[in-house]
Amino acid sequence: MTEAAKVTVRQAVEEDSAALIELERTAFDSRSGFPSFRTAVRESFFTERCQPEHVLVAVDGDEIIGFARLTDKYPFVEGAGVLMVGGLAVAPTARRRGVGSALLEAVEAEGRRRGARKISLNVFGVNTEAQRLYAKHGYVVEARQTAEFTIDGELMNDLGLALFL
Ligand SMILES: CC(C)(COP(=O)(O)OP(=O)(O)OC[C@H]1O[C@@H](n2cnc3c(N)ncnc32)[C@H](O)[C@@H]1OP(=O)(O)O)[C@@H](O)C(=O)NCCC(=O)NCCS
Repeated sequence: MTEAAKVTVRQAVEEDSAALIELERTAFDSRSGFPSFRTAVRESFFTERCQPEHVLVAVDGDEIIGFARLTDKYPFVEGAGVLMVGGLAVAPTARRRGVGSALLEAVEAEGRRRGARKISLNVFGVNTEAQRLYAKHGYVVEARQTAEFTIDGELMNDLGLALFL
């Protein structure tokens, strides 16, 4: 567990599913996530490849105020040792008080615990807030992909970032 200010970061449990679905729906917008993912109807936050043990949640008391998914990037042996942050979000009402940073510290600690050499993630080119957060935590730009997605009718650039452990 990691403590920062009033925030505690712990591993998710099955019972967090509904709160995590709601947080994912409200935390992302078209500058930070795919609209089609936000509107998708899901019975569970968790999937075959992303079980509760692959999700870190930030809590303030009983309330879940942030999460990070940390899964294997590749589902095959040659890609072992590379993890992927496939979603990092903080509730809009809990931002700019270190919750995202606490989650990234926990991600790094968990990556080391799992013996990873590298943590990868993707961020939209317009999402400069998140890019600043990742840069503060040592993530470097590995890939710049131009016109990678179409979001709300506009072409979107995407960056691939990595933290080397
Ligand atoms: C990006 C996000 C996770 C940041 O969470 P947070 O809890 O507000 O982040 P922190 O308080 O730990 O911020 C740490 C640093 O990140 C940078 N940062 C975070 N939000 C920022 C903003 N809105 N504008 C500028 N810099 C910002 C700052 O350098 C900040 O340090 P400071 O507050 O001392 O200036 C949150 O804004 C969020 O959930 N956004 C929507 C989802 C998203 O973009 N996820 C990432 C997709 S790849």
